[in-house]
Amino acid sequence: MTADTADTVDTSADRGRVVLEARNLVKDFRTDKRKGLFGREHFRAVDNVSLELRAGQVTALVGQSGSGKSTIGRLLAQLMPLTSGEILLDGTPTSANRGRAFIEYTHTVQMTLQDPFSSLNPLHRVSYTLGRALRIHGGRMSDDEVEERSLALLRKVELSPAERYLHRFPHELSGGERQRISFARALAAQPKVLLADEPVSMLDVSIRKEMLDLIDNLRLTEDLAVLYITHDLGSAREYSAETLVMYHGKVIERGASRKVIDSPEHEYTRRLLAAAPNPRRRLATG
Ligand SMILES: Nc1ncnc2c1ncn2[C@@H]1O[C@H](COP(=O)(O)OP(=O)(O)OP(=O)(O)O)[C@@H](O)[C@H]1O
Ligand SMILES: [Mg+2]
Repeated sequence: MTADTADTVDTSADRGRVVLEARNLVKDFRTDKRKGLFGREHFRAVDNVSLELRAGQVTALVGQSGSGKSTIGRLLAQLMPLTSGEILLDGTPTSANRGRAFIEYTHTVQMTLQDPFSSLNPLHRVSYTLGRALRIHGGRMSDDEVEERSLALLRKVELSPAERYLHRFPHELSGGERQRISFARALAAQPKVLLADEPVSMLDVSIRKEMLDLIDNLRLTEDLAVLYITHDLGSAREYSAETLVMYHGKVIERGASRKVIDSPEHEYTRRLLAAAPNPRRRLATG
């Protein structure tokens, strides 16, 4: 447990400046006119959400399935256009849905996807996946340099011996190892922001703690601003400084994680907690 998972959110400048800020994000998806919800043409998946991600700090986004968590992640990664609202990177409004501007944006903001099984191309070895990411973000480099940097990335995500992993295919990796490769690929960009969509939900309980410790370690060593999307309130309490609770596309409660989870104010957060196994439990150490 680290000092900043305290009972209050420390927003002082030395704790971490705001790297990525979302203001009043709205995302409507088109629905079939005839079959649309209550006959409406659009379905509002994200409804006026504002949030700030700070350097060296984990912010958790929790809520039931379908509440809009992944959509927020994808909007922040600029993988889809906003219906309205604004995203500011280091205080500057950005819009980078395509082309060069998008690549530039991904140098700073990286997302790991909810399903580590489908996010890695089964046809490519780890060396190709990491090498490609390194070249996209780092420009021209020799094969030797790519290999050296790939090994350094594998060490950073604690896969050892690194040499052994370089030539493996995704099907030769466990779920936890694939998730680590996804992190390594994201880190190839040397990003300031990591949007981690359910990084542990597909993993066996026994290795969840290892993965969360890795994220915690990365945010400290890389000074990463992390959005941790999860169903798991216990890990949000343990590993994030601030927690935002989503319900039907809206953030209905937010605050210091321990405060939100130990003494929630909103009825929905209470219901979510009642449905969770035991949010105050210690995670299995495996
Ligand atoms: N591309 C899309 N087109 C239409 N509707 C979508 C699209 N993506 C998401 N939705 C809808 O938006 C809502 C929010 O989806 P989202 O994936 O963000 O939820 P989530 O909170 O991440 O859920 P889970 O916990 O199951 O991952 C859902 O009702 C979903 O069906
Ligand atoms: Mg999701």
